[in-house]
Amino acid sequence: MKRTKILFLSLMAVLACSRQAGTTTGSTPEVEARVDKLLSQMTLQEKIGQMNQISAGGDVAQYAEALRAGQIGSILNEVDPEKINEYQRLAVEESRLGIPLLVSRDVIHGFHTLFPIPLGLAATFDPELVEKGARIAAIEATAQGIRWTFSPMLDIARDPRWGRIAEGSGEDTYLDARMGEAMVRGYQGNLADSTSMAACIKHFVGYGAAEGGRDYNSTYLTERQLRNVYLPPFEAAVKAGALTLMTSFNDNDGVPSTGNTFVVKDILRGEWGFDGLVVTDWNSMGEMIAHGFGEDRKDVAEKAVKAGVDMDMMTYGFLSHLEELVKEGAVKEKAIDQAVRNILRVKVMLGLFEHPYVDVAAGRAVQYAPEHLAAAQKTAEESAILLKNTGVLPLKAGVRMLVTGPLADAPHDQLGTWSFDGEKEHTVTPLKALQARFPGQVTYVPGLQFSREKRERFDDVLAAARHADVVLAFVGEEAILSGEAHSLADLNLKGSQSELLKALRSTGKPVVAVVMAGRPLTIERDLPHCDALLYSFHPGTMGGPALANLLFGDVVPSGKTPVTFLRTAGQAPMYYNHNMTGRPFIGGLLLDDIPLEAGQTSLGNTSYYLDYGAYPLFPFGYGLSYTTFAYSDIRLDKGVYGKDDVMGISFTLTNTGNCEGTEIAQVYVRDLVGSVTRPVKELKAFERITLAPGESRTVTLSLPVSELAFYGLDMVKKVEPGDFQLWVAGDSASGEALSFKVK
Ligand code: BGC
Repeated sequence: MKRTKILFLSLMAVLACSRQAGTTTGSTPEVEARVDKLLSQMTLQEKIGQMNQISAGGDVAQYAEALRAGQIGSILNEVDPEKINEYQRLAVEESRLGIPLLVSRDVIHGFHTLFPIPLGLAATFDPELVEKGARIAAIEATAQGIRWTFSPMLDIARDPRWGRIAEGSGEDTYLDARMGEAMVRGYQGNLADSTSMAACIKHFVGYGAAEGGRDYNSTYLTERQLRNVYLPPFEAAVKAGALTLMTSFNDNDGVPSTGNTFVVKDILRGEWGFDGLVVTDWNSMGEMIAHGFGEDRKDVAEKAVKAGVDMDMMTYGFLSHLEELVKEGAVKEKAIDQAVRNILRVKVMLGLFEHPYVDVAAGRAVQYAPEHLAAAQKTAEESAILLKNTGVLPLKAGVRMLVTGPLADAPHDQLGTWSFDGEKEHTVTPLKALQARFPGQVTYVPGLQFSREKRERFDDVLAAARHADVVLAFVGEEAILSGEAHSLADLNLKGSQSELLKALRSTGKPVVAVVMAGRPLTIERDLPHCDALLYSFHPGTMGGPALANLLFGDVVPSGKTPVTFLRTAGQAPMYYNHNMTGRPFIGGLLLDDIPLEAGQTSLGNTSYYLDYGAYPLFPFGYGLSYTTFAYSDIRLDKGVYGKDDVMGISFTLTNTGNCEGTEIAQVYVRDLVGSVTRPVKELKAFERITLAPGESRTVTLSLPVSELAFYGLDMVKKVEPGDFQLWVAGDSASGEALSFKVK
């Protein structure tokens, strides 16, 4: 008897330990006890109700019955704080168990105060600043009752035709992971605080690899690509404590994510021990029927719950069919309990049971707070990338400017995609900022009213240009041309924008192009028509003052490309960290070099395009400054490292120009021989360094050798010993390689 008791107690201890060990959300035994207690009081119908998320809006009364009956666990898309309080009141005060709702919204790059789109955030290479922006977004959104955002989007995107490239951090796994962690920390802050907003890492997984860049399309990622490239940012964000995760729309190798047991159950829950909430994307459960992966809603509901999905966004599949599936024995009530536990855990951890309501007046007061606008402006400043400058920038204070182009005064469009709650009345456009700062020096002739407009002649613009010292042409994309469901096959400037630049060039006046866009556009044909080009992914509410500061040198550009800029869309996908081919590019004939009726041969030929060569327009990590930087004395503290060592990398950076500036120093590594082919280079560290003119600084960075681990032939993550190369440089295409070994 005694022995059984001891055995039982040890078993309980092991179980308790394993639960703690599997906690990525930071849940405590107290939280678990509360969740279990509540769960034990719930009927099956009430449990299933928690697993149902609906898009609210309109009249609250229409949902009153469902709320009283406990049929809704979460709502999205209601932002009116008074209505949110009313939803909560019905759930908390009129349902049997009084469980509060999780109120959610796509707060993607700010709530009211909008920051640059996420691709622009990534261009800052400044996780601290990005974390601050996410914190501000959370302060504004939670003040209106929103406690769950569907952000950050961690999809690696290597094809700029895909409109949703705007919503993520670009093509690189390492940069994406750092940005993702920063946003999770920023949104969630201190969970016990009422300004904490649950992050939702999405879209799990591989969605950014949509075939041909066509949104919602199939992906064909191998397990190795998933593990080495697409999954690490999610794993990093889970480790940073992300409370929730969203499954994606795409099917990978035939299996839609919302029914993908391998990625959700085996990897996310099993390998990473994720104990947060998994929600579907909007009707992605229902879309498994369209995919041909399930017969009807009942079938897909079964597949989703079995894959490990906890909450159904907008399919009503769980609400309509789970009870029946449990009664038939197809789904075990234990699986439902687990899902509901994951949902209730988030509600308890956010303190919703204690504070379900929001103070409406106080909430309004924090929107667009001066410190929020200042942070948005600083972020827009850090995110702009200088891609060309023949010396015309920075501008001198007294210049007479012609401001032109469809994005010069486009308060809606400069906010970018996913800016539902941004109000264009609060946007400061470049035109407004320049007029306010330089009264009497600005002439404005738009030339084109919007980015797609076509026009034959620009007489009015050209006449005005003749009276100006400099032309500032704000071109790019309207917000609606990127984002979800907005893929493009042609990435040139739309409408007659290129013609406008060309015409302006003919005046002989210096032309500065500022591009505001949701993706890296193919601007090669426009470069010869401007003396300087500043690329600003849609910069948000304070884009205008930020760009004015950059143009006049109050702030020196420091952003770097978070994604490769292509010469033509036909090069996509093209990214810096591709695997080494058997015939790496070493130069070769181009289209016009090929003799007529040349005989067929492939001998000596390498991997490139006959018409566009092997290189992009601008590589990953690239960006100019108003000053210049030199790297010297790049050293490693050893030549041979053990697998548990931490590498010491040092270098001296010198500001060789005439003004203060910030450089983003980047460390790349290549593993020369692997059990499988390896990327030609991979970003492993970066550092923002600000130097006065003439100043030199020796910088030391630490890189644990364990960071060189990858999934090789045996699909086990480890560092494979051998020879490596390392670069420290200002972009992914520069620098001299150093060699080292790992034994
Ligand atoms: C998008 C998600 C978004 C959801 C809710 C979907 O269409 O793919 O990213 O969070 O809608 O608005």
